[in-house]
Amino acid sequence: MIKKTFKSKEFLMDIANNLFSSAQEARKHAYAPYSGFFVGAAIYADDLNIYTGCNVENISFPCGTCAEAGAIAAMISGGAHRILEILIIADTLQPTTPCGACLQRIAEFANDGTLVHLANLNGIQKSLPLKDLLPYGFVAEELKK
Ligand code: THU
Repeated sequence: MIKKTFKSKEFLMDIANNLFSSAQEARKHAYAPYSGFFVGAAIYADDLNIYTGCNVENISFPCGTCAEAGAIAAMISGGAHRILEILIIADTLQPTTPCGACLQRIAEFANDGTLVHLANLNGIQKSLPLKDLLPYGFVAEELKK
């Protein structure tokens, strides 16, 4: 018998909707007094939980952290290991894409096909596989030896 792991469209929409509302909530807690740019992120992880993060800035600018980094830290400290889907939300007309460093952070715990949802306050505007955003990320199998 062929075992199928089929996920219905409704199920996937449900995840996306939950990610959107979770990221929207997290964004409300963003600490961004210097840029005024509030970002939220939500991850659907391999333990089937949702982990969130927001950007946390610092008067010493490089010390600030992005929303994606916060969500990944929450996921790892929560005991999950992999990102199944991730959503990023900011108040922009064109949806905000993760910065280069965050794409590499996401890649560490995701696959080429992992969906990255880009949202503004109106909802999800675009959903792309990670490889479209980071086609040539840093991979060095040698480092693991
Ligand atoms: N920011 C994020 O949190 N995620 C991104 O993907 C892009 C930028 C934050 C960092 C900083 O606090 C603010 O947005 C402006 O760059």
